[in-house]
Amino acid sequence: MKTLREYIKEANDKKVAIGHFNISNLETLHAVYNMAKKLNVPVIIGLSEGEEDFVGKVEAVAIIKTLREKENFPIFLNADHHYSFDRVKTSIDAGFDSVIFDGANLSLEENIKITKKCVDYARKVTTETGRDILVEAELGYIGSGSNIKETIPEGAGIKTKPEDARNFVEMTGIDMLAPSVGSIHGMIKSGKPHIDGELVAEIKKVTGVPLVLHGGSGLRDEDFTNGIKAGINIIHISTEIRLAYDEALKKSLADKPDEVAPYKILQPVVEAIEKVVEDRLKLFNNLY
Ligand code: G3H
Ligand code: ZN
Repeated sequence: MKTLREYIKEANDKKVAIGHFNISNLETLHAVYNMAKKLNVPVIIGLSEGEEDFVGKVEAVAIIKTLREKENFPIFLNADHHYSFDRVKTSIDAGFDSVIFDGANLSLEENIKITKKCVDYARKVTTETGRDILVEAELGYIGSGSNIKETIPEGAGIKTKPEDARNFVEMTGIDMLAPSVGSIHGMIKSGKPHIDGELVAEIKKVTGVPLVLHGGSGLRDEDFTNGIKAGINIIHISTEIRLAYDEALKKSLADKPDEVAPYKILQPVVEAIEKVVEDRLKLFNNLY
């Protein structure tokens, strides 16, 4: 089977994007996996620090590795938004396929220093084990929290400058970059952020690395398609899944107040998440 790096290269050549979906539990993983298999497209499962602590690193690695190897299906595991070298290191050691060091809140100097340390560590592990571990880092303001927000947060207009992106990639040696190109983490009640396609293309041109779009929830279809055309290779979706989970669970409990079997209560939840994931994967992979 191809490596994640090779799947990203393939997505870039085909002008499609790989879907990255955050999970907190098995039913969400099932929903994502079912839809990726149905559409026969590679997929990335993301675990933020909080999600990773809840699910368990060892458990997550064991499940994803088993699905990939025993079922021969391209599903990969990403340590999403990790905020320290130690957390990144622990995820690499546990067997994650890729990691994101998120130093967006640090000074540029500090962000570069810790990102480089993460890259050096990943390279060392690759040399020792042969595992190809991808390191992503974030530059610019994308906001934080996969939740529902009243308005676009202050400072969201601050986008990544191509020149800064080029220097950052050169100085850190990262494999993929998450730039700020208009999207915001979470869903905004009033107004939708807009992806700056020209900026995406410019950053892609000067950095030459795969680009990752964070904060995918709630964006318009054309923002995704323009972003992909301009050079986005991976798209992160989390809030839409959380919302689907929450609404379907509340409805399921209300519809059947006497039901106590979790697998019955949660079946409509899986279906609601499948719908979100299927729509997004079709759009990202040009399958409409
Ligand atoms: O890393 C996670 C994401 O960027 C998800 O953002 O909650 O806006 O979909 P979202
Ligand atoms: Zn993100």
